[in-house]
Amino acid sequence: MSRSGLYRGVASLALAPILLSVAGAARPERPVPRVTPKFDPVAETSLLMDGLNQANYRSLEKLLKQKPADADTWSFVRGQSLLIAETGNLLLLRPPRSGGADAWNQDAMDLRVAAASLARKAGDRDYEGSVAGLGKVASVCNRCHETFRVATHVGPDAGAD
Ligand code: HEC
Repeated sequence: MSRSGLYRGVASLALAPILLSVAGAARPERPVPRVTPKFDPVAETSLLMDGLNQANYRSLEKLLKQKPADADTWSFVRGQSLLIAETGNLLLLRPPRSGGADAWNQDAMDLRVAAASLARKAGDRDYEGSVAGLGKVASVCNRCHETFRVATHVGPDAGAD
């Protein structure tokens, strides 16, 4: 098993409750001094790729092989799409030091848009729209990989690893 295999399965919907609980946090009772948020990337980009993008993308490919039969599967598809969209936000914190920040930021935002649109199709239980949406997500993955000379190809013709 590749090193990256270790991370798969840890990701996907395991993160969803954490994200939701933060979003739904109540206003604090005690007075807090004004804080300016400072974003500070901590994980390697390759970890986000393996643990979030690839893990969720691969699962979506499997889940959308045929039309999901029940509400749980559709909500899983929606949730995994949103985790890829959110990864687009995390990628915005990590433009490559070697240059190409504009292309990077555009691709990261395109990933967010494509994956959020897929999530909406899944929310509507639109199977054809979801399959097309997953194809658009894959093309953003591949565009960024080509621009930054990453050998990984994403999609149905990517082969197994
Ligand atoms: C904004 C640019 C960008 C986008 C969008 C992007 N990637 Fe990547 N990806 C990279 C870069 C850069 C690397 C190389 C990271 C490294 O090795 O440090 C990479 C590496 C990878 C790897 C190899 C990780 C490893 O073990 O080294 C996989 C798998 C991967 N990406 C999957 C995806 C998938 C799936 C998507 C879309 C859902 C995606 N990527 C979208 C830039 C991107």
